[in-house]
Amino acid sequence: GAGIAITGSGSATPSASLDNDTLSQLVETSDEWIATRTGIRQRRLANAGESLTELATRAARGAIAMSGIEVEDLDLIVLATSTADDLFGSASAIQAQLGARRAVAFDLTAACSGFVFGLATVAQFVRTGVYRNVLLIGADILSRWVDWSDRRTCVLFGDGAGAVVVQASTTGDRLLSFELCSDGSLNNCLQLPYRTQPHSLVGAIEVGQGDYGTIAMNGKEVYRFAVKRVPEVIEKALYRANLNIDEIDWLVLHQANQRILDAVADRLHCPREKVLTNLSKYGNTSAASIPLVLDEAVRQNQIKPGDRIAASGFGAGVTWGAAIFEW
Ligand code: ACO
Repeated sequence: GAGIAITGSGSATPSASLDNDTLSQLVETSDEWIATRTGIRQRRLANAGESLTELATRAARGAIAMSGIEVEDLDLIVLATSTADDLFGSASAIQAQLGARRAVAFDLTAACSGFVFGLATVAQFVRTGVYRNVLLIGADILSRWVDWSDRRTCVLFGDGAGAVVVQASTTGDRLLSFELCSDGSLNNCLQLPYRTQPHSLVGAIEVGQGDYGTIAMNGKEVYRFAVKRVPEVIEKALYRANLNIDEIDWLVLHQANQRILDAVADRLHCPREKVLTNLSKYGNTSAASIPLVLDEAVRQNQIKPGDRIAASGFGAGVTWGAAIFEW
């Protein structure tokens, strides 16, 4: 079968920025507390008029332009998100906005692991020869689901979108390995469950109807899970690729928290200079964080053609995974 290559990246963020000092007018917190515990200094927030579809489409246009493909040549669009504009999915709306008439489009939900799970998923379609030109988007507007009176969570999250174009490669397979994991027994450490109320219809027949609440998180559990499982999964993926950490140019981790990034790098004995970070500007943007930080590094000429990247996402589910690829 064909190999795959990532041939373009793009990203988009809403323009409104909320810094820690301003946030401390809303909840009892401080720039000092947030910055030392998380590394986050500001986050971008989508207003009521800004849709996930629009953010994702902007990121997609950047990736399509960099790759040089025509929109009409796209075969598949996968949107990794947990915050679609429409519970039935938003990938089709993006397909329409882009005018990618030939492409089949669907959503994939794996929280903050969505981009890595999406990359592994789209790779299967390309490697088997079913599709050649794929758009993979990671996008989330978590601000819609944050409890803005809960200082333990509202300081962490921000909104954004990132995208890559994945194509059949004529010069070898540039996705060197991946490894995906789930552990539903830890589901309650980070969740946004639908809560049902009985709603009587007729006679004894009732249905459950309700609403999603707001993000509930056990921060310490999430931290412990991440610093243990992320180094493990990266090591497994490196082993599969027959590489060791010294042969990796960039560690591109889900941008949850600077302390998690530092701890993962240290456990892998990876110098911190190799760890991409932009979470001080954007906070945790969930499925968007990996393609967002990747795209910024590519556009700033930090990541260069041929560089080897170890990417790892981790989050609710819980889910976690790693992918090793060459730029
Ligand atoms: N400002 C000021 N004080 C705060 C804040 C805040 N924003 N948040 C919590 N506190 C207080 C708490 O109330 C508590 O006070 P108390 O001792 O009087 O009760 C104290 O600070 C310590 O709280 P902890 O929750 O124990 O703080 P901790 O040191 O664990 O840090 C943090 C919290 C930063 C959230 C940490 O647990 C963490 O980083 N966890 C990982 C979270 C994460 O990354 N989640 C998302 C990853 S997965 C995904 O991306 C979806």
